[in-house]
Amino acid sequence: MSRLDSMIRRLEAQRACIEWALRSVEGLDGVILELGLGNGRTFDHLREHAAQREIYVFERAPAAHPDCTPSVPYLIEGDFRESLQNQRPILTQQAVLAHCDIGSGHSDRDRQLAIDIGPILNDLLRPGAIVLSDQEFAVPEWQMLPGPANVPKGRYFVYQKKNQS
Ligand SMILES: C[S@@+](CC[C@H](N)C(=O)[O-])C[C@H]1O[C@@H](n2cnc3c(N)ncnc32)[C@H](O)[C@@H]1O
Repeated sequence: MSRLDSMIRRLEAQRACIEWALRSVEGLDGVILELGLGNGRTFDHLREHAAQREIYVFERAPAAHPDCTPSVPYLIEGDFRESLQNQRPILTQQAVLAHCDIGSGHSDRDRQLAIDIGPILNDLLRPGAIVLSDQEFAVPEWQMLPGPANVPKGRYFVYQKKNQS
């Protein structure tokens, strides 16, 4: 498979997962968290398909086109490890969806980032919230879901925050 094929598959999986997750949380109130603005592609897709939801975007180095850059207070700058902390009083609601597109291509660093931010992110989610990620997480409060049928296993990680018992 060429690198172009691989990139197309990755982007198709991302789009399928985002649209599937938005449908899954349709009946639940809550904001959306976007971790990793990058070029703003997935942020733009989220706001197009969830126009009624507030979307908070976390990014340490915002550099997307201004059309795809949220304004304050929806852009939260800094390293996720710090910027996700203490957001609970700032968000108008708990989050119903977190989309984490945070990979740098350095697997050790990415794995450590997921370990560091999992518990902090969990505090911002309501029960039943969906987490989509390009990185694997191991958060005890989350269960892994298979995600949409057309996305091959392991291409994108899908979790749901368990309901408290
Ligand atoms: C793969 S890109 C996101 C692409 C984006 N979803 C899009 O569709 O254009 C990952 C982004 O995460 C950001 N990022 C990675 N690690 C971070 C960290 N520890 N704190 C804050 N931002 C981080 C990078 O700066 C980069 O912009």
